[in-house]
Formats: sequence, structure tokens, C-alpha cells
Amino acid sequence: MTNKMWGGRFSTGPSEIMEEINASIDFDKRLYAQDIAASKAHCAMLAETGIIGAQDAKTLAQGLDVILTEIEGGTFTFSRALEDIHMNVEARLEELVGPVAGKLHTARSRNDQVATDFKLYVRDAIDALDEHLCALQQALAHKAEEHAATVMPGYTHLQSAQPITFGHHCLAYVEMFQRDRGRFADARTRLNESPLGAGALAGTSFPIDRKQTAKALGFDRPAANSLDAVSDRDFALETLAAASIAAIHLSRLAEEIVLWCSAEFGFVALGDGFTTGSSMMPQKRNPDAAELIRAKAGRILAALQGLLVVMKGLPLAYSKDMQEDKEATFGALDALALMISAMTGMIASAEINEKSMRKSAGAGHSTATDLADWLVQSAGLTFRDAHHVTGRIVAAADEANLPLWRMPLETLQSLEKRITADVFDVLSVAKSVKSRTSLGGTAPKNVRKNARSWIKRLERDSRSG
Ligand code: ARG
Repeated sequence: MTNKMWGGRFSTGPSEIMEEINASIDFDKRLYAQDIAASKAHCAMLAETGIIGAQDAKTLAQGLDVILTEIEGGTFTFSRALEDIHMNVEARLEELVGPVAGKLHTARSRNDQVATDFKLYVRDAIDALDEHLCALQQALAHKAEEHAATVMPGYTHLQSAQPITFGHHCLAYVEMFQRDRGRFADARTRLNESPLGAGALAGTSFPIDRKQTAKALGFDRPAANSLDAVSDRDFALETLAAASIAAIHLSRLAEEIVLWCSAEFGFVALGDGFTTGSSMMPQKRNPDAAELIRAKAGRILAALQGLLVVMKGLPLAYSKDMQEDKEATFGALDALALMISAMTGMIASAEINEKSMRKSAGAGHSTATDLADWLVQSAGLTFRDAHHVTGRIVAAADEANLPLWRMPLETLQSLEKRITADVFDVLSVAKSVKSRTSLGGTAPKNVRKNARSWIKRLERDSRSG
């Protein structure tokens, strides 16, 4: 049997293998709601412009509503022979309302149709991701407020560098996720032009009203060039690029959680709800969710790479290659939503071991910079000289196997005679973090203030979202 949608010039139907490689319904059925919404907007416009009759439009719209109910109720039968969501819907419409169904595709092609559906889908996904990210930021900001003064080691090269507060560390991620939200919002702004009415590639001779359909579907305006409208997949690429960066942020935090949960660090205990056991070793509490977040970043990066490669050699306008845009994008956006939710759960449930953070915060002569700064501010050395003297004091402390604040004053004075007992004021971890009051610094009072302002701002975002 030839294809009933486009088989006019064919004498036989496609081979089984052709059908298998050609059909996208197994994955693009996810576009059903967008497809039906776009068809209803198109149909209303066709009636408004007098291209089809008002009664026909009403019949078509009612049929489309029935199809929506059938799909949502699980009673719709998808057919691979009908290739994709667009033709599955149209074929069912004909069963429901008869030959008038054939009018729906007037002044429209599957090329502008699929671009429209996919844009609407990606737009919805961006909106959902924004809400997820906002919830994650809220969990982090609350932890930050709670732990504004909880000291922990700050690292460079994963070597203990300077003490910081755990709250400050949490707020670093709040900033990162805010930039991710900004990238998604930018992508959404550029995405929001309607391809509908571009036809197959060249526009149409029917007197359509593209502004009307754009408005009905919540687009800011119709896309200006019909060739571009049907062949643009920037919106998916940009969204996947934003998703990739967000996934990297999540993966970095996940990696830190894995480290922090180890006995060697012992900084964090995840709640039972976000921990798994071992089938063999009864003592184990594994941070599987963090590991999976770290790993799932891979598929998001792969989806971006995959779509870039699909698009790179395509002449204008539509090529069937572009059907390969959806599956990996759906998968990547699903994965990202899940990763964010799992991270939010982990953060909210995490118990912070302040004692072991404090212990590590003082290890590795982490206040050596404070000593050097004191030598500059209170003893009048240049920073270079102070750095050198501090290096010698650190070496002596290592030799004596003592932390800096336990070094006898005489020993310090034998290395630099201008040192006085006041130096001990800056050598403790708590004093060190307290002194970092510069803008963006880790001082508890900064952290508390920033955490509170984030909490307020995020509450506003989540209310308006
Ligand atoms: N299923 C197709 C896709 O996802 C719809 C567009 C098909 N257009 C065409 N000219 N064959 O890209």
C-alpha cells in the first residue's frame, strides 16, 4: 500500500527497512501536545483569513481535541507506517471527522510544523528547568545561611589553601546556577520566533496571517525568513549548550560530594534517602546519586556534540537529517531535570560534619597567608619578604610537627624579630575567615548577608515562575 499522506506518485509502499529508518513516531510522539496546539492555532487562522470555512475549522478543532484526549488517556494507537506525530494525528483526524481533515494541512508543511512543535517543546523544557534550578539554588542558599560560619578548607590544586566557610562554598554554586538560568533565558528569547507559515521552505501563496498564529502560540513574532525558519535548529543547540554547562556545574558539585562523603574527608553525610548500600559490605553508604549525576553529564555533552555534527554539513533548507535532532535532545533535557532534582534532594538532606571540616580547615598551614598578611600590615615587611619569612616559618613548623598557631613565639622571633604575640590573633582558622571581609570574600558576615539576599530573591523568582 502506498503512503496515504504522500503516496500519490508511488505505486508501492516503502520497504520494511525504509519504514524502520524513516519512522520517528517512537520518539516524536512526545510532541503530541505541541503538535495539536499548533494545529489548532493554524486551523483558527485558516478560518479567520477565510482560507477554510468557519464550520470546517470548528469540526477540525473538535477532532483535534478528541485526539488530545485519546493520547492523554492512552487509547490512541500510534502507527509506524504513518511515520511521525504529524501524520499520525492527521490520519486519526480523518477517521474522526472525515475528508474535511484534508483541509488542515492547507498552507502548511511538516517542515514548518515540526520546527514549531520542537520549539514549543524546548521552550516548555527551558521553563521547567528554570524552576528546577531555582529550587536547587534555594536548597543551597538555605544551607549557606545555616553554615555561614562553618569553616572548612578551601582548596587550590586540591591542596589545602586557605580556610573558607561552607556557606561560601554553597553560594559559589548558587552563582553558577544563576548563570545557567541566564543562559537558558537567553536561549529562550532567541528561540521565541514562530516558524509556522514558512511552509516547506518558501512560504505560501495562501493569504495566511503568521502574526496571528505566532501570537496564539506565545511566540514574540513570526520568524522573518522562511528558509531560515524551517532549517534553524540553533534553538536546540543553544539549549543543549546551556544544558552542557549546567551539567558540568552539577558534575563538579557531585564530584565534591563524592569526596566529602569519603571517610578520608568525612565532611558530609547524605540522608538515607539519597544513599545506597552495598550488597556485600554492610558498612557502606555510597553516594550513588552524586556519581550518577557526574556520569549523566556525559550524555548531555554527547547530545550537543551529536546535534552539532548532524547540522554541520546541511544545505538550506530542511533535510531529513534534522529528524535526528529530537531523540538526544529529549534525553538530554530529561537527564538534566533529573540530575537537578537529585542534587536538590542530596543538598537538602546532607548533614554537615562541622567538627571534621574544622579539623581539616586548620591542616596544611592553611593560615600561612594570614601570617604573611600580618607581617605586612603589622610588622611593616613588603609582601615578598613576608612571603619568604612565612615560608621559612612553615618549614620550621613542619620540622617541629606543629600547626602554625602552636609555634613558640621565640621560634617565630628567631626567624623574624619583628613578630610579636599579636600574631596569634590571625593564625586561627576562625579569625582567618572572619578577616576576609572584602567584597565577595568568605567572611561569615558576608556569607550570611548574601545567603539572605539570595533566599529572598529566589523566593520571588519561584513565586513569579
Ligand atoms: N518527522 C520529520 C522530522 O522530524 C518531520 C518533517 C518531515 N518533513 C519532510 N519533508 N519529510 O523532521
